[in-house]
Amino acid sequence: MTKDLKNPPIDRIDGRMKVTGGAKYFADFELPNTAYCVIVGSEIAKGAITSLDTKKAQGAPGVLGVFTHQNMPPIPGWDAPVGGEADGPPPKPKTEETYRILSSPKILFDGQPIAMVVADSYERATYAASLVKATYTKQTARTNLQKHVSEGVAPRGADGGNYLRGTADGYKTAPVTLEANYTIPVEVHNPMELHGILAHWTGDKQLMIYAKTQGVNATQNAMAQAFKLDPKNIHVHTEFMGGGFGMGLRTWPQETAVVAIARKINRPLKLVMNRSQMFTLVGHRPYTVQTINMGADQDGKLIGIAHAATAETASYEDFTEATVNMTKFMYACPNVSTRYRIVRLDRSVPIWMRGPGEATGAFALESAMDEMAHKLNLDPIEFRLRNYSETDPERNRPYSSKNLKEAYQRGADAIGWKERKNQPGSTRDGDWLIGYGMSTGVFSAFRWEASARALFKADGSLTIQSAVTDIGPGTGTALTMIAHNVLGVPMNRIKVEYGDTSLPKAPTQGGSAIVSAVGSAVYDACTSVKNDLMALALKAGAPLAGRQADELTLADGVLSVEKEPGKKIAVRELMQANNLTVIDKTRDSKGSPEQEKYSMYSFSVHFVQVRVNPLTGVVRVAKAVSVADSGRIVSPKTAASQMIGGVAGGIGMALTEEAVIDHRFGRFVNNNLADYHVAVHADVPAIETIMIDKPDPIINPMGAKGMGEIALIGFAGAVANAVFNATGQRVRDLPITPDKLL
Ligand code: MOS
Repeated sequence: MTKDLKNPPIDRIDGRMKVTGGAKYFADFELPNTAYCVIVGSEIAKGAITSLDTKKAQGAPGVLGVFTHQNMPPIPGWDAPVGGEADGPPPKPKTEETYRILSSPKILFDGQPIAMVVADSYERATYAASLVKATYTKQTARTNLQKHVSEGVAPRGADGGNYLRGTADGYKTAPVTLEANYTIPVEVHNPMELHGILAHWTGDKQLMIYAKTQGVNATQNAMAQAFKLDPKNIHVHTEFMGGGFGMGLRTWPQETAVVAIARKINRPLKLVMNRSQMFTLVGHRPYTVQTINMGADQDGKLIGIAHAATAETASYEDFTEATVNMTKFMYACPNVSTRYRIVRLDRSVPIWMRGPGEATGAFALESAMDEMAHKLNLDPIEFRLRNYSETDPERNRPYSSKNLKEAYQRGADAIGWKERKNQPGSTRDGDWLIGYGMSTGVFSAFRWEASARALFKADGSLTIQSAVTDIGPGTGTALTMIAHNVLGVPMNRIKVEYGDTSLPKAPTQGGSAIVSAVGSAVYDACTSVKNDLMALALKAGAPLAGRQADELTLADGVLSVEKEPGKKIAVRELMQANNLTVIDKTRDSKGSPEQEKYSMYSFSVHFVQVRVNPLTGVVRVAKAVSVADSGRIVSPKTAASQMIGGVAGGIGMALTEEAVIDHRFGRFVNNNLADYHVAVHADVPAIETIMIDKPDPIINPMGAKGMGEIALIGFAGAVANAVFNATGQRVRDLPITPDKLL
């Protein structure tokens, strides 16, 4: 691939299928004789079931079984106490509590499944589920993180995010200091597609699964462990997903339960959860409180930062994320300390949600940077430039690439930053106050192991295969583009097959890592095809014999010699002459030890202009510009869409999203899409995306870093900073709802 080739923007290859109903999501698969499963959730958050009346449900029309802790079929691989999850080894450190679905009368969180009702239709299962009655002994549930922050402990088996450079209280010695507390509420992924699974056993050993998972190989391994099967006997299919955002990064206990019940009833069994269950049974962004202490000198040089975060987790599992990590390396600052703690509450376990902990941490750090810039009477970009880290101060090594200065500049130009007044509350448009804000985002750029297969046929068509699923970012489109760039095959002659364990192994779609990981494998497989073709053309007696490989170009099925116009050979003829109908290459790809000499990150900068109505407290994001410094952009159109999606999520995070718990009951009061407000069209302005589009020389042959997470990371801080610039009011507790500004 020529690294300076600017790719044209193309529509996503599966776009038409998706909008015409041709794309099949897990619940669209219909198998003969399928039974349907509906979950009955606990009505208390802590305690135990004392009685469970399932008789009426058992007798309801079409019911095939009511499964509870009294009759749940065994899940053989769960015998060892490895915490509550079905994920494969290594086992999580033992927790005091263990959550095994339907294994005991004990209740650990509100909505915990107490019965799974199976019937011959979804409607009959739903009705029968309404007939299950339970009584409980109830204990006081601890669900309020704010009340229990002081009980934060280091996570089991992790270092707790403890980090120190220089001295821990170095910030105290600075002439200008600030201390601020920031809160992120519970947020829930809420993709449009509901979560669930369809499981189908053939006999006792062969298992077919259609699931909502971000990783078919991960689900395959989790089920292999749970049912003590050879993974080869488990086939998992997830070609399309109607949004994931992290909720599909693991196998959830109810999925494993469905598989166990399907075996017991000897029928295919389908579970599609309802929206309210999506709030408790498939994870959430954890409620997190953070404190930042910061000190700088009068010239705007940072002297010290201390960043402490405390997040909720479940009683039965220590969930952790990288909330404080950005603070360790983002700025050139001599004294930095971070600390990460968790509080085990009577709540269901969180999971990474887009941008995960980094998005939570960036809100705090980038708000604090804005607060400090204000104290110093400095432009917030200028303050960041004065503390720009040219090399990674955490690990003392160079960045693989970093074009953040250019990103600041281009974003500032695009939003009209020069209109911004440093004095808050000084720009008005009629009744509305206008403000500008910005924030940096950053996320690790990975190169995970992956494999891919390229099948190049003599007719000039190409098929690419990888088990990776496409959760929405346009993975298939990006892989098509990579193959096109290597082999010159027209894009409409390339077919990508993905989302199935019968295909070459791929990592879970997550961590913004798939273009890098799977893309590299596709690059390698296609390069191997290309090398074979060139060898055929160059060998003794062949049409291009005597030339060198690097003198050849391959495009539209023709190999030609650049310096000799007219000297060429069609690939079709070349393959025919060699009796080849297909060249079939599978390649494994992974990062090199050389990469460990570098810190690999993707960067973003978000700029917003807000309008705030001081009478109503309403905040409108009027303009948004997001700049990605994520290496070479492989597929410009899907990359821009990815960025736009992240910004829409960021507007929700900043202004509306909050899952509210009534702590008397330990239960959400807004577990539906009417009351849990995601940003809708009216909340989202036209979003401008800017791609720096400079290849990273270290990470992979495409020079492409990820961008799924950086699209969101930092955005909420940019909004909070803009609200401050508009009003002079600093909101440190998300979301920035009107009441907080009145
Ligand atoms: Mo992402 S939070 O790795 O799905």
